[in-house]
Amino acid sequence: MFPTVRLRRLRRNATFRRMVRETTLSVDDLILPLFVRPGTNVRNPIGSMPGQNQWSVDTLVEEAREIEQLGIPAIILFGIPKMKDATGSQAFAPDAIVCRAVEAVKKACPELCVITDVCMCEYTDHGHCGAIRNNRDGNPDVDNDATLELLVKEALAHAGAGADMVAPSDMMDGRIGEIRANLDDAGFSDVPVMAYSAKFSSAFYGPFRDAAESPPQFGDRRSYQMDPANLKEAVREMELDVDEGADIIMVKPALPYLDVIRYAADEFEVPVAAYNVSGEFAMVKAAAERGWVDEKQCALESLLSIRRAGAKMILTYWAKDAARWLVE
Ligand code: PBG
Repeated sequence: MFPTVRLRRLRRNATFRRMVRETTLSVDDLILPLFVRPGTNVRNPIGSMPGQNQWSVDTLVEEAREIEQLGIPAIILFGIPKMKDATGSQAFAPDAIVCRAVEAVKKACPELCVITDVCMCEYTDHGHCGAIRNNRDGNPDVDNDATLELLVKEALAHAGAGADMVAPSDMMDGRIGEIRANLDDAGFSDVPVMAYSAKFSSAFYGPFRDAAESPPQFGDRRSYQMDPANLKEAVREMELDVDEGADIIMVKPALPYLDVIRYAADEFEVPVAAYNVSGEFAMVKAAAERGWVDEKQCALESLLSIRRAGAKMILTYWAKDAARWLVE
């Protein structure tokens, strides 16, 4: 008890603080999300995500070289197709944009881990994450089982193009098992699946939907993404994904769901990833632009806290900045 116990003793100087620090953030933990679209020499700034761009394959390759040089181990790719239709056919067309991007980046940077986001919302004209059919109430809704077929085709196209890992983000029931079985049958048994397992229906995805041009054209995603109120249900989602063969489970968003990350890290033996999403990034950016907060300090504190909650990997738009800040 005080005055014998004084916790401030080990906070007195930077060396003590360094010695007793419980959590570390390393460049090894970072995964950078990137958006790729058709064209050449494209570098379209994304208004709601300052510093982030939509790339064409050629500029993406240049960016990938820089990312590799910074020591970042992995990127995750999102595609914006040349045309959208009801079933999102451009997700798995022979010249699918993500497939062309994977091929080009793997050729230029063979050591960089290229993950692909597997979902239909970027490719459908209605902006939902799967095929639409009227439900029993007569309202349009995403048809789970019909969507599984589309997701399998997309995952196989990505793996065939050389993707190092696929990351299904659609939240259909049964998709991890279905994708795993089909990858195995097609000879891709060594391609890991990173499952967006506990993916909540979140307002923090707003800027991403600008970036990927994928806002739902009617309704919202609450019939497939999770209710922010539910932890037990998140645990069931994670259990199912692990049982279906997920190699990595993900919690998304990160900061409003640190308790879910903690639970995942304590209860499951697979590595846990967390997605520090577009809205979490944009909030800090916007406040920093006004001089209200310090971007670097807020970003590093956010990333460290996500690590402390138990995530090994963090998908973050700050990956390049953080890689530089960590060597300073
Ligand atoms: C696709 C997908 C989304 C995000 C990642 N994959 C958007 C959504 O579900 O609406 C969001 C990522 C972010 O906000 O940074 N389903």
